[in-house]
Amino acid sequence: PLRGVGPGGIPVAAKDGVSPVTGADHYSVTAGQFQDAGVCPTLGPTTLWGYNPANPLGGGIQPPKHLGGIIVAWKNKPVQITFTNNLPAKAIIPADTSSIFSDAQQSVNRVSVHLHGGFVPWISDGGPMAYWGPASNPVYGPSIANGSTNLFKILNPSLKPGQGEIYYPNQQSARMMWYHDHAHDITRTNAYAGLATAYIIRDDFEAGLRNQGLPPFIEDSVLGGTTVQELPLVFQDKIFVGSNIGWIDPTWTGLKSPGSLWYPHIYERNRWRLTNTGIPLPNPSAIPEMFGDTMLVNGTVFPEATVEGRRYRLRILNACQARFMNLQLYVDDGSPNGITLDANGNPKNAPFIDGAQKDSKILQIGTEGGFLPKPVPVSTSTPFNPLALSGSLIMAPAERADIIIDFSKYVGKSIVLYSDAPAPFPMGDPRNDYFPGLNVAGNPVNGQTKAGFGPNTRILMRFKVVAPTSQDIPLAITTSTDLSGGIDPFLQNPGGTPRRLTLNETFDNWGRLFQRLGTDALAVRGVGQGYMEMATEVVNAGTTEVWEIYNLTGDTHPIHLHLVNFQLLNRQPFDVAKFMAGSTVFTGPTTGPDPNETGWKETLRMNPGTVTRIMMRFDLPTVPFNVPDSLSPMLGVNGKEYVWHCHILEHEEHDMMRPMVVV
Ligand code: C2O
Ligand code: CU
Repeated sequence: PLRGVGPGGIPVAAKDGVSPVTGADHYSVTAGQFQDAGVCPTLGPTTLWGYNPANPLGGGIQPPKHLGGIIVAWKNKPVQITFTNNLPAKAIIPADTSSIFSDAQQSVNRVSVHLHGGFVPWISDGGPMAYWGPASNPVYGPSIANGSTNLFKILNPSLKPGQGEIYYPNQQSARMMWYHDHAHDITRTNAYAGLATAYIIRDDFEAGLRNQGLPPFIEDSVLGGTTVQELPLVFQDKIFVGSNIGWIDPTWTGLKSPGSLWYPHIYERNRWRLTNTGIPLPNPSAIPEMFGDTMLVNGTVFPEATVEGRRYRLRILNACQARFMNLQLYVDDGSPNGITLDANGNPKNAPFIDGAQKDSKILQIGTEGGFLPKPVPVSTSTPFNPLALSGSLIMAPAERADIIIDFSKYVGKSIVLYSDAPAPFPMGDPRNDYFPGLNVAGNPVNGQTKAGFGPNTRILMRFKVVAPTSQDIPLAITTSTDLSGGIDPFLQNPGGTPRRLTLNETFDNWGRLFQRLGTDALAVRGVGQGYMEMATEVVNAGTTEVWEIYNLTGDTHPIHLHLVNFQLLNRQPFDVAKFMAGSTVFTGPTTGPDPNETGWKETLRMNPGTVTRIMMRFDLPTVPFNVPDSLSPMLGVNGKEYVWHCHILEHEEHDMMRPMVVV
């Protein structure tokens, strides 16, 4: 079954009773290791890392749980957290120590906590260099160990070794963010091991929408014991030892028992490299992208959620390493997977018809930066079209969607949530898109196959619709409802020359593909710059900038900026070869944002051969303490240190990330 939020499910965090000098609500969260038999019940228990918080129902700290420690905060009510790194010395996933970063040899159990989407002072941003080790090895990253001062102690002078202290001002409108690990060089494996969960901000505007039929808040239903109608749905793809591609070769140094996490560790062109250069690649090696053969929702493979035939609010997060989704809903046709494909590979099933919208569309009311200016109808049944890059609800890694859906037409039936986004996106390799979930002997192994449901990467979960236990108030939210009062006003274009940047794909010193961000200098076109090179995105606090980001690669990259939300102005195709030679030639007209990209964004799909134009203002939050400038030598300037990067986690660290400094 789907794990919900609350008792027995995903833990919500409770305040710990500490009163910090900042006056913030205080929480204690620990990152630890645990075993979970409910992730992939057909294989065996999974060893994971997770956050564990204090229990809102009392009883002290809860055991660590996958996706544990959801924090529900209110706008303008700051939250401060003592994070304790309680991880064991050995990582679950063996990490590449050959990488371009010089300190990769350090203990592999460092953590850094980043609030993705958070408007936070830089010392609480949890950037790659703000990491720290456990009490047994209490190293601090260069951004926090500022000379001999530990900058975390600004917030908590009595901090113990193995702890970090973080302050979130929450000067943001209602939205669902998430916090996840960001430690330098091991973000991809730390997050994969489980260090990621949701962070929700509420505000009065959102609370008022409940009078118009927005379902009750999750925390109210959990504590009040009523039907939970707000469901966070966190999607991840993983590979388990014993699943289709989770094979044990003699060089795998991770856990070997069935059900343990497995992660690709041999670079795919290793043999070619060895034959052609005689230089073996490292093992474990960084890899281009991780595409799992098993889909998880809220930490369980192919779960079934029992829902009532009434209105729900789905808070969707794509927390996959590299996999995009094109989410669709179909009526279960009773076949083993619930879905039957036609000759073109598309579902033959009846599309889901929304009970309130009267058609095969559901209502999207928000994205990463909170509410859309107006709710947008989203198709439930449009397969992905790689030429138009269109489909139903397309979501790149780290993107979120806030959805209102009405199941009332389907009491007694089941609905399958399906995705056909190619992997890589948008020009997929079918080997990554439709893992059949069969082992070499032809037996289904990586799903909940006893129920006859699952297992391939297109089937995500099933909703079993039962009779409602009570009636919802009528839904007054429609496509013409004005939600703009719930978000920050949009910016005026400052004019002047935009900042030009590039997305590049090249080869590292080992001959492995890697991706990099870059300035527009001709000398680095196609090559870009690395994270450890001096900052070039140095911006003035309070100013508005337009960034034009030219994608010279064949992939769509979900580009994420820390600190700011931005507006998408437009996209435009250009001639990549001519651009490489020094001239900018557009090959088509500009296209505006998709209807569900018209709100504030902080993660955005930037398509191949396309320039994406975004606009943002580099404000800093107001906080009740002094925030020093970062002295990280790689910045080349003293200022407030943030980053921008691709959110395909295997790209981010190899090496598609750059510092961003606010001065
Ligand atoms: Cu969710 Cu810097 O990332
Ligand atoms: Cu990327």
